[in-house]
Order: sequence, then structure tokens, then C-alpha cells
Amino acid sequence: MEPGRPVAAVLFDLDGVLTDTSEAHYLAWQRLADEEGLSFDRAANEALRGLSRAESLAVLLAGHPVPAPQRADLMERKNRYYRESLEHRPPRLLPGAQAAVEAAARRGLRTAVVSSSRNTGHILALLGIAERFDHVSDGRAVPNAKPAPDLFLHAAAALRVPIGRCLVVEDAASGVAAALAAGARVVGIGPEERVGAAHQRFDSMAEFDLEAAVKPKL
Ligand code: G6P
Ligand code: MG
Repeated sequence: MEPGRPVAAVLFDLDGVLTDTSEAHYLAWQRLADEEGLSFDRAANEALRGLSRAESLAVLLAGHPVPAPQRADLMERKNRYYRESLEHRPPRLLPGAQAAVEAAARRGLRTAVVSSSRNTGHILALLGIAERFDHVSDGRAVPNAKPAPDLFLHAAAALRVPIGRCLVVEDAASGVAAALAAGARVVGIGPEERVGAAHQRFDSMAEFDLEAAVKPKL
């Protein structure tokens, strides 16, 4: 963040910030891991937050040599489990998420959704909030996923706002790292051990306070 320059845009992550799909992602990976006899649990899943589907699979396989076509099948299967689970239990906005987006718009800030997920368009449509944002950068927009800074830089460029005047809201260690590398001001949502590297942290979106987050820092 550039000192003295006010925040002009808020870049919201999707899974775990705007919506509760993190659990559905976890359950789909757990099912795949169980079927494939791979060791995986809820704690291990924390490291997958924010990573692309391909990167997540690489972590899950933990160095097991698996040929590309088989990797593609595994990713396709995980995505099928994920999408099917959304049919049984549609995604919901997290408490505080809608208020945060509305507060940003009321303050005249530009808004974007910035997510590694290739399902971003589908999830926003299910939530019925796609129209609320000025821009969406998803997992298809750039070749290098989080923790690379590229996705946030892509969104800032699309909004025509310097990244130093963007506030990023993230629940993943990889997302916080990506946003810091990009040069944004970063708010972490979640526990210290996961998002402690952010400039500021709230336990959940229900606690998120836009006014406190955009206040000029000394
Ligand atoms: C987000 C989620 C991850 C997910 C990734 C890719 O970053 O936090 O859990 O693996 O998107 O999602 P996709 O929908 O493309 O598989
Ligand atoms: Mg997330």
C-alpha cells in the first residue's frame, strides 16, 4: 500500500470470504483422497485454501508420480463431486459478506471478485450477486495462480486502479501472500496462524469493518 494514498477499490476473494464453499471444496477433496487411498484431513486442507485445482492436486499427491492424463481425470472427478454437492446444498453468502460489498459501493469504491476458482462465474450466478461487482478475475484469467501476484494485478488493471490503492480481502495464506507480493493493502479473514501475514486481520467476515480497514495507516 502506498502511504497517504486512499483506498479506491476492494478486491474480494470468493471461497471463504464471500461464500461458504470452502467446506464443499474440502469435502470433495476428502472424498477423492479416500477413494485413492491418499492421506488427507481437514488440517491438511488448510494449505489448499486459495490454490488452483492443479496445485491442490499436486499437494494432495505429495510427490507421487502421476501421469498428466490421470491427473486430469482426478481433477475432473473432484470438480464433479464439488459441483454435485452444490446441487444438494447451494452456496450461501457468509454473514457480513453482503454488508461489506454494500459498504464498499456506498463509499464509492470500485469492487471486484478475485478468485483462483474456475467455478467463480457459476458460484456468483448461484448466489445471485454477479451484478454487484465492477469486475471479476477468476482462475482462467492468468496462467500463474495465487500465491503469484498476477491475479490481483489483473483485477487492478481491469478496474484501472493502481494496486497500491486496492484493499484485498482474503482467507487463504496463499491469497494473502499473493496480495502482498502484488503490493496491495491486505485484510486477512481467519486465524492468525493462517492469515497473520496480512496488514490487518478479522476472525470472520461478520467482524470485518470496512471503515477500520480503509483508515489511513501511519
Ligand atoms: C479457490 C478455493 C480452493 C479451490 C480453488 C480452485 O481458491 O479456495 O479451495 O481449490 O479456488 O477452484 P476450482 O473451482 O477451480 O476447482
Ligand atoms: Mg478463499
